[in-house]
Amino acid sequence: MNPVEINKVKKEALDAAGAASSLDELETVRIKYLGRKGLLPAMMKGLKDLDPAERGDAGRGANDFKNAVTTVLEKRRVALGSDLYEARVTVDYSLPGQWHRTGSVHPISHVICEAVRIFGRLGFVVAEGPDIESSFNNFEALNTPQHHPSLDAQDTFWFSNGSLLRTQTSPVQIRVMRNHRPPVRVITPGRCYRRDTTDATHSANFHQIEGLYVNCNVSLADLKGVLGHFAREMMGPDVGIRFRPHFFPFTEPSVECDFSCHVCSGRGCRVCKQSGWIEIAGAGMVDPRVFEKVGYDPELQTGYAFGMGVERIAMIKYGISDIRQFYENDVRFLDQFR
Ligand code: DAH
Repeated sequence: MNPVEINKVKKEALDAAGAASSLDELETVRIKYLGRKGLLPAMMKGLKDLDPAERGDAGRGANDFKNAVTTVLEKRRVALGSDLYEARVTVDYSLPGQWHRTGSVHPISHVICEAVRIFGRLGFVVAEGPDIESSFNNFEALNTPQHHPSLDAQDTFWFSNGSLLRTQTSPVQIRVMRNHRPPVRVITPGRCYRRDTTDATHSANFHQIEGLYVNCNVSLADLKGVLGHFAREMMGPDVGIRFRPHFFPFTEPSVECDFSCHVCSGRGCRVCKQSGWIEIAGAGMVDPRVFEKVGYDPELQTGYAFGMGVERIAMIKYGISDIRQFYENDVRFLDQFR
């Protein structure tokens, strides 16, 4: 190739490099002109066949060709590469951001945490027990006779080995007292199970919070004071409480504890079935026979116990009319408790 031809090829190469619209295309240009089998080596090889008069110019031309094309290829490579880079990271800040759904505390957990905090400030510590219990802890030690209807297979989920799904959190009282000397002051949240048919107010699986305080000279007045304080902390300062006589095998005397209906402030409405009161807890003074079962001296020890329904409290606190909503995992429902 003589100097004129070299110049022509150079121009062609520079145009091709400038026109390449991708790194692949650019690489094709490089191979064509500068590659091992490309035009530059051919150019160099051809120098020796030229007229010696032209050889000097042609040699300089070939060098110039090499430098010019290399420079332009490199510039174009950077430009194309950074175009690609720009395309990848360009962000339109005016677009709405990505929305990450965050969870919220389930209303049942919320009521349990709140109750644990309230009783915690009164010196109660949390004790827990297993959902699968022995018949002894769930019934016998709680002074529940063998013929009691709650032992019936229609009311309790029994396992073939004689254990059961606890029907109440009261068996944790037994576990605590068998393992600790008095005084004890515990609060026990947990799941309970009964063979109930599910409807708006019943669920086969529900939650209770059990309380137990054993010491010397504990009285029903102490129980009333503590439950009244709990009611006000949980529901607000205007809530009233009342005790009604009742029967539980493990307490004597036994009471049921009602909170005044916070929906109608006690005047009577649909939620409280016009009574002005809502049943929240069973309670009473620990029966001396229970103390005997756990090895406490009934002559020395006195104590109160209570067990309340967590769903009950959550339903009236948040105005929920159907217990099934707690278990359906519908985020439209759960999202409201943030
Ligand atoms: N375990 C009872 C129930 O499930 C509630 C209860 C009543 C618990 C009296 C107690 C208590 O600790 O003293 O209905």
